[in-house]
Amino acid sequence: MNRKDFVRTSGLATAGLMLGTVTNVFAKDDRPKVRIGLIGVGARGIGHLDLLMRRDDVDLVAICEVEPRALENAKNYIAKNNKKMPLIFSESNDAWKKMYEINGGLDAVVIATPWELHTPMILGALKAGIKYVGTEVVLGITLQDHWDVVRAAEKYNAHVMMLENVCYRRDVMAVLNMVRQGLFGELIHLQGGYQHDLREVKFNDGIHTYGHGVEFGEKGYSEAHWRTNHSVTRNGDLYPTHGIGPIAHYININRGNRFTSLCSFSSKSRGLHNHIVKLGGPNHPNASVKFKLGDVVTTSINCANGETILLQHDTDLPRPYTLGFRVQGTEGLWMDVANSIYIQDKSNNNDQWDVARQWLDKYDHPLWARWSKETAGAGHGGMDFFVIHALVESIKNKVATPMDVYDAAAWSAITPLSEQSIANGNKTVEFPDFTDGKWAERKPVFALTDAF
Ligand SMILES: NC(=O)c1ccc[n+]([C@@H]2O[C@H](COP(=O)([O-])OP(=O)(O)OC[C@H]3O[C@@H](n4cnc5c(N)ncnc54)[C@H](O)[C@@H]3O)[C@@H](O)[C@H]2O)c1
Repeated sequence: MNRKDFVRTSGLATAGLMLGTVTNVFAKDDRPKVRIGLIGVGARGIGHLDLLMRRDDVDLVAICEVEPRALENAKNYIAKNNKKMPLIFSESNDAWKKMYEINGGLDAVVIATPWELHTPMILGALKAGIKYVGTEVVLGITLQDHWDVVRAAEKYNAHVMMLENVCYRRDVMAVLNMVRQGLFGELIHLQGGYQHDLREVKFNDGIHTYGHGVEFGEKGYSEAHWRTNHSVTRNGDLYPTHGIGPIAHYININRGNRFTSLCSFSSKSRGLHNHIVKLGGPNHPNASVKFKLGDVVTTSINCANGETILLQHDTDLPRPYTLGFRVQGTEGLWMDVANSIYIQDKSNNNDQWDVARQWLDKYDHPLWARWSKETAGAGHGGMDFFVIHALVESIKNKVATPMDVYDAAAWSAITPLSEQSIANGNKTVEFPDFTDGKWAERKPVFALTDAF
């Protein structure tokens, strides 16, 4: 399934696609509405706009977008749904700075822009006094970016939540429920990754969001405009968080456990070049581009409590989508690619896989049991609802977000660390402790109830 199909089947409405009519899902209570500003209404941000607009407890007071087509798409969507038009900031690449100074202030900002803009936009928000930031994956580019965000969140006593939606995938959460109830025993080894054919995301014709050409950079549109360049200049696990986020919750990373070291390997690079030649011919100017990113990047991580993790980044070759989860303990395991679960002495037959569905339904997480109606129409099979829900409810309840800046930093820092490991001949590198030792005392908080 390519990204376009994935996006369609998962119900995510993206730029250029028609969004449905908004049905508001939250009755207003006595608390003031949460004032939110949104930066970036491209393929991802338009989905966040939709989710924010559905809520009666949110006032989307401003949006910032510099690309006329994406902005027009967002405005049309708002008008079509008879919603109040937010203030628009679009005059320059720095317009977001003005948005942060808006009259009446912002309770939160949601950032859905290219990766390289996340760190400056987060730091700017914290300095401007905004107490909650919801940022799309990833947190930053360099290791220093991650430290800067952690230190700024501490200094300004603010909450930075990475909007890592896969943590809320229904099967992922059912497995979290099973882990917490001890079904798999003591966890030993975990796998995951980002295994998604992105060739039609990384290249397009500058008009369509997906495919129809082999342009990128200045001539590309949406992610082809900025993401593909990372594949030209960098080699590492460029997108670790969809895999590592759920895994980190399973083994309480930063909350009694932590990543201690990492080692990455990269294969040769063929997929992107072959795609260009196949669609654009050997004489297309992009056929001479050298891509630094290996087609399959494999990373091993050690944990303080003795678990091992294997992560894979695999976005440039033909392949059906799967995040490749494996959660294995002393009593059994789940593997998402085979949709299978085996629990010693409890599975239907000894040494044979059960179809995972029967277990996942039985252990459906209370969050999904409570909110599944509200997830209807939200992107990626409904899981996108939960990241916005968690951010908004944390603000309303004046509490920390269930995924915090230490989680964001530890998950996202895998990218620069894996680049470092590969550049140094697969050297094992130490994992920084962004919590400064607090990991040992911190307690799990993610999805403990059905609230958010
Ligand atoms: N969690 C998920 O499932 C998921 C899915 C897709 C994308 N993403 C993430 O979302 C982010 C955005 O990706 P996308 O697919 O929407 O890319 P996109 O290119 O379609 O959208 C990014 C938007 O940011 C705008 N922008 C760029 N510079 C700006 C600036 N200075 N001020 C204001 N706006 C600016 C662009 O014009 C564009 O419309 C990325 O971090 C990506 O990794 C996450």
